[in-house]
Amino acid sequence: MFRKQLALWVCCLLGIVACVSTPSDRYVRQLTPELMLQEKLEQQLAVLAADEAVRQQLNLAMKFRTQICQRCHGVDGHSRNGRCPNLAGQNPAYLVQQLEHFSDGQRQDFQMQSMVRKMTDADKVAVAIYFSSMSPYPTATKKDDQAVKGQAIFHIKCAQCHGKQGQGQYGYPRLAGQLPGYISMMLHEFRKPNSRRRITIMREIASILSEAEIKLLAAYISTME
Ligand code: HEC
Ligand code: HEC
Repeated sequence: MFRKQLALWVCCLLGIVACVSTPSDRYVRQLTPELMLQEKLEQQLAVLAADEAVRQQLNLAMKFRTQICQRCHGVDGHSRNGRCPNLAGQNPAYLVQQLEHFSDGQRQDFQMQSMVRKMTDADKVAVAIYFSSMSPYPTATKKDDQAVKGQAIFHIKCAQCHGKQGQGQYGYPRLAGQLPGYISMMLHEFRKPNSRRRITIMREIASILSEAEIKLLAAYISTME
């Protein structure tokens, strides 16, 4: 009897706490998994920067543990298929963020969502560091007329966030050297009303690009080093 009463009181108390928690409390709780992941990434990067032997150990272990990822993203982090992005040299802060977005459903992709389901925070941090440390190279080597025209648009409309060399900065992704097919596919994807990547500033930016601009930008970005 006493136990039942106690259980009832505990339930009431929990209910009251849930009701009086302010919207800002809820907001903080919502952000926490992503922020915690960024913090873990920074801690791990500091450990690796201080100890070369630990870095080498991680690289060796990840070479085997990322075999499944390499099937689509390439052994050297360069994909051969415009559906899959290159990961080599990508900003690690962006990589962990996107893995978390696949986990919480903010970004939707059947294959990637089934991949991240099995990953812990430590796994996400480790793969981000591994792929970001690979050397990126351009997809296209020749800068044709289209690429030259694309360069002018890139500097006006994209460089402020993605960096002058498209190298990525702060939380913004590296674009340099990405496959033209992937750039074009994503710019179209961001514009869709029911986009698989709904919550991002890129929706507004992509929606005011013309088809011709998308083609020129994809041509230029693939030649960037
Ligand atoms: C079956 C193919 C496949 C496999 C295996 C796979 N991926 Fe992916 N990955 C994709 C595709 C396709 C996308 C692009 C999804 C989209 O269109 O939004 C992607 C996107 C990503 C992104 C976002 C990158 C960006 O530039 O936005 C990351 C990070 C990523 N994958 C990491 C991984 C990791 C780590 C593994 C291994 C655990 C892995 N992937 C395995 C197909 C795959
Ligand atoms: C105001 C800042 C900002 C500007 C300007 C901007 N971007 Fe972005 N871009 C972002 C952010 C933030 C993301 C990550 C989106 C997410 O969180 O899903 C992104 C992602 C992308 C991606 C997807 C990368 C990947 O690996 O999946 C492409 C492609 C892209 N931007 C192209 C462009 C192009 C081309 C321009 C110029 C026309 C541009 N962006 C201008 C902020 C910006």
